[in-house]
Amino acid sequence: MALRLSRLIQTPFMARGYPSLVAKEKVEEVAHKKMPLQKKIDFAFVTRIPKAQYGGRHAVTMLPGGGIGPELMNYIRDIFHCAGVPIDFEVIEIDPSTEGNDDLEYAITSIKRNGVAIKGNIETKSEAVDTISRNVALRNELDLFVNVLNCKSYPGIPARHKNIDIAIVRQNTEGEYAMLEHESIKGVVESMKIVTDENAERVARYAFEFAKKNGRKKVTTVHKANIMKLSDGLFLEVSKRVAEDYPELEHNNMIIDNTCMQLVSNPHQFDVMNMTNLYGTIVTNVICGLIGGAGLLSGRNYGDHYAIFEPGTRNTGTAIAGKNIANPIAMINASVDMLNHLGHTEHAKVISDAVYQTLCVDKIHTADLGGTASSTDIIDNILKILSTRRVHWPQRVIVNQ
Ligand code: NAI
Repeated sequence: MALRLSRLIQTPFMARGYPSLVAKEKVEEVAHKKMPLQKKIDFAFVTRIPKAQYGGRHAVTMLPGGGIGPELMNYIRDIFHCAGVPIDFEVIEIDPSTEGNDDLEYAITSIKRNGVAIKGNIETKSEAVDTISRNVALRNELDLFVNVLNCKSYPGIPARHKNIDIAIVRQNTEGEYAMLEHESIKGVVESMKIVTDENAERVARYAFEFAKKNGRKKVTTVHKANIMKLSDGLFLEVSKRVAEDYPELEHNNMIIDNTCMQLVSNPHQFDVMNMTNLYGTIVTNVICGLIGGAGLLSGRNYGDHYAIFEPGTRNTGTAIAGKNIANPIAMINASVDMLNHLGHTEHAKVISDAVYQTLCVDKIHTADLGGTASSTDIIDNILKILSTRRVHWPQRVIVNQ
């Protein structure tokens, strides 16, 4: 059993034997080709990897996903066009209702070629055990081991707490999302939560490095080691071990239940938070709720080789699709993160300044923020601002006023 489990953990996701996701190659062959991705993060190396660039323009994979994803991607294209962003999108539609995984494999190939993607959430239509989430498959296959959210309040947005500034660093590929469940006997279901020393170390080190580089003071590791003594116990033990390398940073730990209570009662005690996959999605949604909801914040998914940018809460917003009421800011912020990652920092700045002016100065808010504006009211205002502040790449920002 131990042998089988360790082999399972080390085997790349798409070759694990899920009926609809088994690649044509033999497991051993796939493992041989892909195991180099599983190495520890080398922060200097990540920034050195060249991204796909043709004629000075970057190529980026765009996965619109379901629900509000396609309309939000159209806004991104309008904004990039208006700001003269030197990026060409390779758009790949993933239809979760199709059998087989040709579209998913095509998306993975495209991201491997381009290095970077922007993504809406792909709905998992079926609850059948052998239908796995395409979102999880993408993150696992590309070894995007960490998800990072900068949760910073916008002044003037109606919110339960003001001046929140918390960075969430979440393990993104294992833990409770291993999707290894089975019914051992009728009425008894077992679900595996996978925690490995190696991935716990990668995410903890990312959290401490992030804190150090961004002038943060404290890292809080969130866990449930009082009950899950082995799995969360290992995650906590590894984070304490990594903390020893950063004596200048305070490290504390908190049980997930208490964390949720502390977040709603006194969120200002948190600085950088380090946690497993499921606690990460819960804490992300709690903090986004405190700051203004699903429509504001973006999330970044990083591995050693690739990066995917998306809205922080990863919802599909299916019920509000096509109604011109979705808040486009989270996806725009994801595109700003992507521009910063690619080094287009001046384009990123003019777009994020236009977002700030629209939300906090012009106070144009969609219904989720208590306003009456439509999605296109927000976009029109951003385009109006951008038309006066254009970046003539590769020169510096030129103000036309
Ligand atoms: P949902 O899509 O229904 O969104 C939750 C709430 O936030 C809704 O009231 C929605 O209208 C609102 N909302 C979301 N985006 C918004 C925006 N841009 N502007 C204004 N309001 C917005 O979320 P739900 O029901 O939790 O999930 C829907 C689907 O997304 C499910 O298929 C689920 O599996 C998937 N999902 C996947 C996640 C992942 O990590 N892969 C995480 C969360 C959801």
